[in-house]
Amino acid sequence: MKKAIYPGSFDPVTFGHMDIITRASQIVDELVVGVLNNSSKNSLFSLEERVSMITEMTENMPNVTVASFDGLLVDFMKEIDATIIVRGLRAVTDFEYELQIAQANHVQNSDVETIFLTADLQYSYLSSTIVKEFASYGGDISNFVPACFIDRIYQKYETK
Ligand code: PNS
Repeated sequence: MKKAIYPGSFDPVTFGHMDIITRASQIVDELVVGVLNNSSKNSLFSLEERVSMITEMTENMPNVTVASFDGLLVDFMKEIDATIIVRGLRAVTDFEYELQIAQANHVQNSDVETIFLTADLQYSYLSSTIVKEFASYGGDISNFVPACFIDRIYQKYETK
């Protein structure tokens, strides 16, 4: 039984995240999308909003669940009995940071392995930061996020 976690901030979830979730769910038996309760980061969406958006997008994926966590990822993995971390790699620039974190997590718990999925070429430029930057100027974000989230993202900037 291979249980994996795909951790991240998901502020907001993008087509790139969805692609990794879909592909990872086909590799492992059970995939938990772990949404970081990053109280120190100034998130656009609350933890509850981020969890609910991913839950909406994954409701037809029977082996995918969504959970929030705070504290260390390796501690949360022990709690939920997961041993695999899934991360997406968009470009070489992601690699240095991701390698360091993967190695540090493995040192913390040698049962923990990180697997990297390369981002689909059509999403290799895409990040939550890019979505927010375009949305903040009222730009077109229809290629970045599912249509049902577009208004919710624009609304954040209208009320700020
Ligand atoms: O989407 P992000 O912001 O790139 O995700 C980063 C994340 C959530 C994977 C990373 O910050 C994390 O695991 N944070 C939990 C705290 C922790 O375990 N820190 C040590 C490894 S960074």
